[in-house]
Amino acid sequence: MHVRALSLLLTLVFATLVRGLFADEAFVVDWHVASIGSIDRSRAILSPDSVAVFSESSVLASLDPGNGTVRWRHFLRESAVPRHSHLTRLDSSAILLAAATPADAGVTHIAAWVEDTGYLVWETYLAGGAPVGVSVAGDVYIMQSGGKVRRLSHSTGSEVWEYSLPEGHSPVDVVASKRNVLVITRKQDKGLGYFTLNTESGELASDSFVVVDKNPAAVSFLKSEGYVADVIAWTVPGQTSTITIANLSDATPSVHTITPKHQYASFSLTSTSTGIVVTITGLDGKSWTESYSSSRGKLTLVGATDPTESAIAVGDGRLFEVSKGSISSFTLGSADAKAESITEVSFPSSPIEFVTCSSSACIVGHKNGEYVFASITGHTWTRDESVANVVSVFLMELEEEGERISLGEVLFEENAAPLQAYIHRVKRHWNALASLPQYLIGFFHRFLSGDYDAVPIDTNSTVSDTFGFRKFIVLATTKGGLRALDTAHGGALAWKVDDILPSDVIVGIVPGDAKDKLYVVGAFGGVAHVNGMTGKIITTSKIAEIGLGDKVESVITFNDDGVQYIAAWTAHGRLHFLSGSTPSKPVYFSKATEDAIAGYIYKEDQIIPTWKFTLPTSSYRITSVASRDPDDKTVSVGRVLGDRSVLYKYLNPHILAVAAVDDATKSAALFLIDDVTGRLLYSSFHDDEVVDTAAGVKVVVGEHWVVYSYWSELATRGEKLVVLDLYESDIRNVRWSEGRNFSSFTETPLPFVQGQAYLFPEHITSLAVSRSRFGITSRDVIATLDTAQVAVLPKRLLDARRPVNRDPTNEEKEEGLVKYDPLSGNDKRFILSHVYNVIGTEKTVCSPANLESTVLVFSYGLDLFFTRITPSQPFDLLSKSFNKGQLLLTIFALLVGVRFTGPMVRRKQLNIRWGTQK
Ligand SMILES: *[C@@H]1O[C@H](CO)[C@@H](O)[C@H](O)[C@H]1NC(C)=O
Ligand SMILES: *[C@@H]1O[C@H](CO)[C@@H](O)[C@H](O)[C@H]1NC(C)=O
Ligand SMILES: *[C@@H]1O[C@H](CO)[C@@H](O)[C@H](O)[C@H]1NC(C)=O
Ligand SMILES: *[C@@H]1O[C@H](CO)[C@@H](O)[C@H](O)[C@H]1NC(C)=O
Repeated sequence: MHVRALSLLLTLVFATLVRGLFADEAFVVDWHVASIGSIDRSRAILSPDSVAVFSESSVLASLDPGNGTVRWRHFLRESAVPRHSHLTRLDSSAILLAAATPADAGVTHIAAWVEDTGYLVWETYLAGGAPVGVSVAGDVYIMQSGGKVRRLSHSTGSEVWEYSLPEGHSPVDVVASKRNVLVITRKQDKGLGYFTLNTESGELASDSFVVVDKNPAAVSFLKSEGYVADVIAWTVPGQTSTITIANLSDATPSVHTITPKHQYASFSLTSTSTGIVVTITGLDGKSWTESYSSSRGKLTLVGATDPTESAIAVGDGRLFEVSKGSISSFTLGSADAKAESITEVSFPSSPIEFVTCSSSACIVGHKNGEYVFASITGHTWTRDESVANVVSVFLMELEEEGERISLGEVLFEENAAPLQAYIHRVKRHWNALASLPQYLIGFFHRFLSGDYDAVPIDTNSTVSDTFGFRKFIVLATTKGGLRALDTAHGGALAWKVDDILPSDVIVGIVPGDAKDKLYVVGAFGGVAHVNGMTGKIITTSKIAEIGLGDKVESVITFNDDGVQYIAAWTAHGRLHFLSGSTPSKPVYFSKATEDAIAGYIYKEDQIIPTWKFTLPTSSYRITSVASRDPDDKTVSVGRVLGDRSVLYKYLNPHILAVAAVDDATKSAALFLIDDVTGRLLYSSFHDDEVVDTAAGVKVVVGEHWVVYSYWSELATRGEKLVVLDLYESDIRNVRWSEGRNFSSFTETPLPFVQGQAYLFPEHITSLAVSRSRFGITSRDVIATLDTAQVAVLPKRLLDARRPVNRDPTNEEKEEGLVKYDPLSGNDKRFILSHVYNVIGTEKTVCSPANLESTVLVFSYGLDLFFTRITPSQPFDLLSKSFNKGQLLLTIFALLVGVRFTGPMVRRKQLNIRWGTQK
């Protein structure tokens, strides 16, 4: 305590004006988790020395097969849609990705990348629809949904020839070989079939359309590299006992019908040197393979495995069987298959979603978002990609040192008989004395090294550090699990729970009544009560009254006289209180839809709609809604100007900022509404600009101000950052809210709004506002940028009162104002993420540390990024470079001085009183 007070005093004296992060804090206080997102088996290429994936989050990545770290990754959100994409190998050193572009689904983006380095070899954009089939045989052959078949040069991507499907054919796939190109289509009245093109010229090799099947459904293809294996297979709708297979390489296509052992749910084909292997999953969930050899146009069953509960996959001539604790490999085709190798691997307990294998290793995808790489030599690694799919986040405070022990003991002492309590207490102190030397050593060590923020070394402990820098970030994922990350240990996993609400989808996670209790709420009414320190599930329950077809949309918390109520709000407009009890007083809340905001009052178990705010025209659409953090505190109700007069802040706690865009006119608008009464407090329209309406408007509400941003092309191209400062009145020293609490029900004047716009050079993807413990520290706006960075924009600079086109007067300088500069934030010092490449972040949450000066910042989306900021400098913390030795010496010298001069002075005073000295 003394140390802290002393530190505070000294820092206030010696504080130098430094901003942001100290160089020695980079990589120490901040951390970054690079993710790739969920993997789909059809877009993962596994080979002995590489793993290439194009994830559901539009990340093209190459993973190190040795340890699973990302060798390189490209975030292709702007150019490639995962659902309409094909990832294949171009040659031994490059991979090829063809995908529909998101902005215009009629255009295909196709690009080749060096697998080791991630360098682009070539790329090209093709009009004519999304890619439906891609085949590599030397050059690249692509079929697009618009009916075009193209051959592109293997080395440059330039077009060699182009072929358009005749009238009446719809594209299915393209299969290329060295000799010819098979174009597989469906013809209106004929059915599924193919014709061949000349590889060199792209012209029809034979003009007959060969019909393979009259009425096929669910066609699945096999295309393998190296040799011709143009096999297609399909099933008849409703028929799950036979599979039809055609070999298009035969002069006249031979169509075979095979009958698997049992009825099947799904199947896939793989080619071998002698025929094909069908991997089948039965209706009962068990899997097996059947091998067929093909000779003289016939398919003959040569072997089958026994149906097993384990997941099976075929890779390069081998069969892999993955069970809970091991992975076994077999040679394909032999009837009495015996495992050649069995490797023990501890897989997560979560169910397996897919297995995809190369000749020596498999990637096993689990339902909880974990991907395990396991080679037959026993080498494994795991990537947990569930943290790339976060629904809801909560930053949980940890216990203070010794909190738990002493509380119990103190309670005992309070309730026990006096003598017993006394003995207990003496014992407790005696025991505590044992740790005194250790404490003293630690104290001096910390004092000399300046390491006050030293965190518990034991990563297993749930104890906070002195300054509250250590918290658990609890993430709820779309994969149905929770993850707790330790802020102080580089984001290390503190605990995890999977499948917390079975057969439900997590909607939100909110803190409960006790500090370490969390509520997890699911869309279908599942509720889990979790201990946030350990991840232990305390209870699970279900909201019984959820109606048929109804769904929980969000979780709302109400605070009624210090009691917190948590309620689930459903799509049918009902509130279900989780803890059973309901607020005694009426509570107000509002809900935003695409085109309106509606206000409600909850009173005596009834929900009464009170107001509705609709947008000016129907082409407007709400993109974001923000309100002030209810825990944000205000320490001063006014803003003191240079001449000591005061502008009083408009501190309406119910301000709702609603941002909307108009897709028709490419404009944006902002409305400030009173959340309780629905009264419109302020509105602003940005009509004469070309707003990027797809990106929307991002908005945050601070203390008495609102900051919002949008990208527009006019008048200057860039992200426009608008700040609105709200005051009670434009007249200084006038305050109508004097002596009364703010109430939305009394008729109050509209706020006086002062606005200013700033230009920011990069696209901003989200905004957040920092909150310190007591609200004394100034606030920063945190912005995530599409340049894979996280930036801080001090509110001090985003000030509506900065003088425009002139230097500030002395009074304005005293107020801390600097000359207006429209270009804000173009300053490297404001980039919090420094060298980290933080891609795909969509949200930021801030949480105060115990120190007033410090705020913890956590951004998530795809990557995770954590740091801490000190918006008003670290005024209550000594810098690491502070010279404590000198301070100690000075204090020591002063003490010595006082010790020696003290008696002298006393003697002198005594002598004066006795009159023996003048
Ligand atoms: C993973 O392996 C690569 C190459 O072997 C190495 O460069 C990298 O440092 C490793 N990463 C980790 C986190 O061990
Ligand atoms: C398809 O037919 C060709 C030519 O008859 C033959 O070489 C090939 O092995 C067959 N493929 C399969 C998988 O049956
Ligand atoms: C944390 O707990 C795990 C498992 O109980 C143990 O293996 C590990 O050694 C512990 N770590 C420390 C630093 O005590
Ligand atoms: C304002 O609210 C606080 C807390 O609810 C209360 O203690 C105080 O008396 C109120 N003041 C007035 C003037 O109503």
